Amino acid sequence: MFAVLKLVNLIYIPLAILAHLLVETYLVKPLSLPVTILLFTDALMVFAFAMRLSKRKIHQAPILRPLIQFSLLCFSFFSFYIPCLIILAIADLFFEISSNMGLLAFAVSIGMTLYQAWAVQTPVLRQIQIPLPSRFQSLKGLSFVHISDLHLGPFLGAGFVEHLVQQIANTPAEFVCLTGDLMDGPYNAYKDCIEPLKKLTAIKTVYFVTGNHEYYYDANLWIQELQSMGVTVLRSETKFYSWNNSQLAIAGIDDSLFKNPQEAEFREQLSTLKAPCLLLSHRPETWDIYKNIPVALQLSGHGHGGQAFPWAFIIRKVMKYPFGLFQDNDSSLYVHSGTGFWGPPNRWLNPPEVCRIELV
Ligand SMILES: [Fe+2]
Repeated sequence: MFAVLKLVNLIYIPLAILAHLLVETYLVKPLSLPVTILLFTDALMVFAFAMRLSKRKIHQAPILRPLIQFSLLCFSFFSFYIPCLIILAIADLFFEISSNMGLLAFAVSIGMTLYQAWAVQTPVLRQIQIPLPSRFQSLKGLSFVHISDLHLGPFLGAGFVEHLVQQIANTPAEFVCLTGDLMDGPYNAYKDCIEPLKKLTAIKTVYFVTGNHEYYYDANLWIQELQSMGVTVLRSETKFYSWNNSQLAIAGIDDSLFKNPQEAEFREQLSTLKAPCLLLSHRPETWDIYKNIPVALQLSGHGHGGQAFPWAFIIRKVMKYPFGLFQDNDSSLYVHSGTGFWGPPNRWLNPPEVCRIELV
């Protein structure tokens, strides 16, 4: 992750400054100063985040959190503003562009940033039907909620979780599956974020597996906290859920950043199960192994569906299972597009989702 941030620092900031120098200075003169201040605030924050040692300290100093939020909003703003400026610069080669166009681009980018900051906090409910092999007829009609990749931390906190818990409580479903990257920060800084989950565990069984981001900060503390709140954390483990006089095996594995020594033995156990198996695994690629066991359905996350335009198109080329439903013989895989976000609060053309999955 730090390598990614350094890469962003190397590519994004010079690009932003170049766009600023080439275009903004003559198109939007009255805004030169605030735009430059935003750019340099961002550059400073990215630099600070890229320093592995200072990152934890930044999170743990509450006084710096508004700065982190502001910096993330700046990133979102520039993701709209820089393309607008580049388009204007190209257009300026052929037509006479008035400075009003630059002002319009600035206003639209501010509007999009504020809209996105609101939109990322209101996940849409997606209804999905997934076919089961015919021999598991008795489980047809069973429904549950799938959420993933909340990335709670400096931007999304307890208020977001409270809203989410209410949304899930109003959704008819038997239980809730959470496929990792719930947290994105140190335990001491953000433990209050998950407090509202207690209301969820009071009404529904919640199954959880770790994602890669849990292992960037205090994974063991987060796991202990979740367990103390009544969340069922599956670490190469299987639990059975009874419904309609049938049983569903709900299994889960840790993210591959944690090499669980019990995973090989766990796979052996899964292969002897009589009940259909619902596997929770943060990374979709594990389906290549588990579909041959076979698990009836694997739920995953990780890629956030590319998170914002145009990345949704790029990850189709980069990831084998980027998002959505995949099927192979008797096994299905659903890759969640993310209930939260990583980095800037921007999920343009790819809204955050809460999935209600019904087995049919
Ligand atoms: Fe994630």
